[in-house]
Amino acid sequence: MTIRKYILLIIILTASCEKTNIEKCDDSQSLYLFSNFPIGVAIDMNELNNDNQYYEIAINQFNSVTPENIFKPSFLHPNENYFDWLEADKLVEFCQINNKRLHGHTLIWHNQLPDWIINFQGNQSEWDLMFKEHIQTICMHFKGKIKSWDVVNEAFNDNGTLRNTIWKQKIGSSYIEKAFMYAHEADPDALLFYNDCDIALNETKRKAILSLLNNLRQRGVSIHGIGMQMHISIVHPENKQIAAALKEISDNGFKIHLSEIDISVNPLSKEIEPSIELFERQANKLAAITLLYKEIPSRYQYGITFWGLSDKNTWIRNYFNRDDYPLLFDDNYDPKPVYCKFKDIL
Ligand code: XIL
Repeated sequence: MTIRKYILLIIILTASCEKTNIEKCDDSQSLYLFSNFPIGVAIDMNELNNDNQYYEIAINQFNSVTPENIFKPSFLHPNENYFDWLEADKLVEFCQINNKRLHGHTLIWHNQLPDWIINFQGNQSEWDLMFKEHIQTICMHFKGKIKSWDVVNEAFNDNGTLRNTIWKQKIGSSYIEKAFMYAHEADPDALLFYNDCDIALNETKRKAILSLLNNLRQRGVSIHGIGMQMHISIVHPENKQIAAALKEISDNGFKIHLSEIDISVNPLSKEIEPSIELFERQANKLAAITLLYKEIPSRYQYGITFWGLSDKNTWIRNYFNRDDYPLLFDDNYDPKPVYCKFKDIL
């Protein structure tokens, strides 16, 4: 290769690299200042305790907090007669000092259960008593400090039937109704949510959830809203499916919390390089969702919560063992195009 050709090649390569360079945008102002509804983040206590940059962004950008793991039964209630409040109370204090709304996640789920619950021996009424004490001890501990709870998480199968969780097996299908009643009895001021995945993608599941919750509400059970998790991708669900879900749920009179947003750029688990094209598609997806969310009546907008702060902190990489970049900030905590567009659209 002649020297001229070599230089030309270098110039072309440099130019094409520059094309994939992702421009930073201004994140000196808080996201939540641009929004009429709360903007939340799932907090990982290890990061909050140990990483200053994480701590600063959490304080500066968001005004609502969901604990990513530490309020789940295996963390909060590791032994039958022992509750571990230490980390949870630290998060409560963080929220009080910094004026953040705290949303509790989650009282009843089939995952992240401690062994003692999985191995609990007892008849139906003993299970019911244990279940009630679990819910009420936690709700009473945080009474006045927590604004709202995901009372039951992921109780439905994709085909709209009830998931055969340990709670359903031991207590019966009424466990959902009981969970809401027990939580309300313990903290009558807390807003109570049912939380699930694929609510926009799967119409059958959504209709089954709405039918159960409407039925319970007609019978006087306090249920204030639905958490749509929104672990989605740049492709699915389609915007029209999201629009239909938002309309149907708000028409039914439930608040909507987009409770666990992350937008995968690699849903098919390939070897990928993050590119400006993927990041723009991600930004467009969040912008479309935000515009649709802004259209529902404000009394139903409980807020938009991101399931993690930066790509470095996402659960997706470990849990699904794939390369992905689903959040607002990159691995260096710099704001991504999705952050910039979101701020503009809010
Ligand atoms: C995830 C956490 O992000 C992970 O750190 C943990 O290992 C597993 O749980 N739906 C939920 C969340 O309701 O609680 C889950 O969080 C993600 C899926």
